[in-house]
Amino acid sequence: MESTDAAVDRVRGYFDAEVDGEWLRLEQTPAGRVSFEVHRRFLADHVRAGESVLEVGAGPGRFTRELAALGARVTVTDISQPQLEANRQRAVAEGYADAVVDWRLLDVRDVRGLDDGSFDVVVAYGGPLSYVFDHAEEALRGLLRITASEGVVVGSVMSLLGAWRHFLPAVLELSDEDNEHILATGDLRRSQPDGHVCQLYRACDLRGLIERAGATTLALSASNWASLDHPEAIARVEASPSRWQRFLHHEVLACREPGALDGGTHLLFACR
Ligand SMILES: C[S@@+](CC[C@H](N)C(=O)[O-])C[C@H]1O[C@@H](n2cnc3c(N)ncnc32)[C@H](O)[C@@H]1O
Repeated sequence: MESTDAAVDRVRGYFDAEVDGEWLRLEQTPAGRVSFEVHRRFLADHVRAGESVLEVGAGPGRFTRELAALGARVTVTDISQPQLEANRQRAVAEGYADAVVDWRLLDVRDVRGLDDGSFDVVVAYGGPLSYVFDHAEEALRGLLRITASEGVVVGSVMSLLGAWRHFLPAVLELSDEDNEHILATGDLRRSQPDGHVCQLYRACDLRGLIERAGATTLALSASNWASLDHPEAIARVEASPSRWQRFLHHEVLACREPGALDGGTHLLFACR
């Protein structure tokens, strides 16, 4: 099995080359736009104006822009220099750079350079914890250490069962052995020797990770529940602003139902 260090390097290389694609991920498809809204509303539940926020794996800045709009003071970090540079350029071009305290390179596995309790909120959206495999518990412990005692760590990881269902045609092209391995471990390294690779979670795995890291789960959500497939039908709803808002409202509520948590491609969490 590929080592975690090698896999982290591989993921960094993938994101170094994927700056534009990463920006478009939550914009290009109806499911992506719903996922953005699910993540944005979850974030708004946990961030208040004036708070100090560390954003881990910020990428080109979809949620940096939202954090700035919420009135947070954001320290933006990523393991990928090109992603960080794109984040900075966008903040300057769109006029919210004043909300950013600093842009710095950071591997989620190593937050030793940051003081205990120094952030009100730590955000790790889009899978930083999924990209460090067996180091996720240690990484989450580090994020909890640098979060204030009444603060919160908000993040999302990739979902095992939701991804299995959503990507079923591709999944069925894999060998039975690879499928058994993925379902048993959530680890994609064996079946994907190139490109993007990550650790997938069931909701119960995520709860276990949070517990082992010494924290309490405050909230969980899938992303998405009803809207991963059927893009034409969803685009028709999106064409009517009032129907779209009503749909998003119900979708966000559905994503938080216990029975829906394993149904999306991502699992969101808030913990302390
Ligand atoms: C899927 S993107 C998510 C970007 C943004 N947070 C969002 O949700 O739109 C994942 C980001 O995590 C970063 N990343 C991957 N591995 C990481 C690690 N070990 N430590 C910190 N960031 C990492 C990538 O470079 C990339 O920018």
